[in-house]
Amino acid sequence: MTRPVLRLTRAWPDRPVAALRARFEVIDNPDDAPLDRDALRRALQGCDGLLATVSDRLDAGLLTPGLRCRFIGNFGVGVSHIDLEAARAAGITVTNTPGVLTDATADLAIALLLMSARRASEGEALVRAGRWQGWAPTQLMGTHVTGKTIGIVGMGRIGAATARRAHHGFGMRVLYTSRTPRPCDIPGARQVDLPTLLAESDFVSLHCPGGDANRHLIDAAALARMKPGAHLINTARGEVVDEAALVEALRERRIAGAGLDVYENEPRLHPGLIGLPNVTLLPHLGSATVETREAMGMKVVENAIAFFEGRDPPDRVV
Ligand code: DGY
Repeated sequence: MTRPVLRLTRAWPDRPVAALRARFEVIDNPDDAPLDRDALRRALQGCDGLLATVSDRLDAGLLTPGLRCRFIGNFGVGVSHIDLEAARAAGITVTNTPGVLTDATADLAIALLLMSARRASEGEALVRAGRWQGWAPTQLMGTHVTGKTIGIVGMGRIGAATARRAHHGFGMRVLYTSRTPRPCDIPGARQVDLPTLLAESDFVSLHCPGGDANRHLIDAAALARMKPGAHLINTARGEVVDEAALVEALRERRIAGAGLDVYENEPRLHPGLIGLPNVTLLPHLGSATVETREAMGMKVVENAIAFFEGRDPPDRVV
């Protein structure tokens, strides 16, 4: 019996690749070079399943009826880089990898919160540049974290895990937004609307989905509502923040700082961000631990096996 052909768009950890090879014909990408639009088009025409990542923009121009590809297994939980309506219309099933990257991403949100509060990037740059003159009473004073208020925008799995870390680890008061009424067992946690959250939080941490629904949710008006000493943390999706407005707010010190792991046009950054001392910039590392990336790969394998055995994949998105 011929085995389905699966195309990996990027290089994966070894364990899930070995698991794939046991069941499928696998076309891999050992050089890990992102596929351009033409290469993606050819891939969709030449495989039964495409194993995609956030670096593959799969829009309606690519996801057209009549493709050989019937399955897209996304290596990641966020799917705003895939036009889901176009996939549905083209008869393509899309799956993702929820759950397995919750802890890693929440850990990174807290890392960014601490780095931004304590001006860690500025301090590291000073030391690396050989400009540090020694300890001084007023040097690089940051913001206290313990006991402050964190505002969680989007109380899904990762938002809730970040809230638990902030409350149980740092005694932070938790405010959160959610599209639907959502109970939370963290003592004192309160569901509020976005304007209230922005006005009352010392740290605003974004955990909502990307895509059109939340594009520029944090725009100039939202930034203007934040406290002057507040910090914005984004480990969700770049498009949730109007990067140009954020640059202005940081430049004019209308907010104290930001910690970003994701960007509007990855891997390009708004040029204004690079020179700002009060922003911490990471290269989309949210789920980047060995354990998590292997688990993400194994989830894709599980979904692919279910799909090609004719079962409903456990993490079907469309
Ligand atoms: C995710 O899973 O959404 C990560 O950001 C990688 O895409």
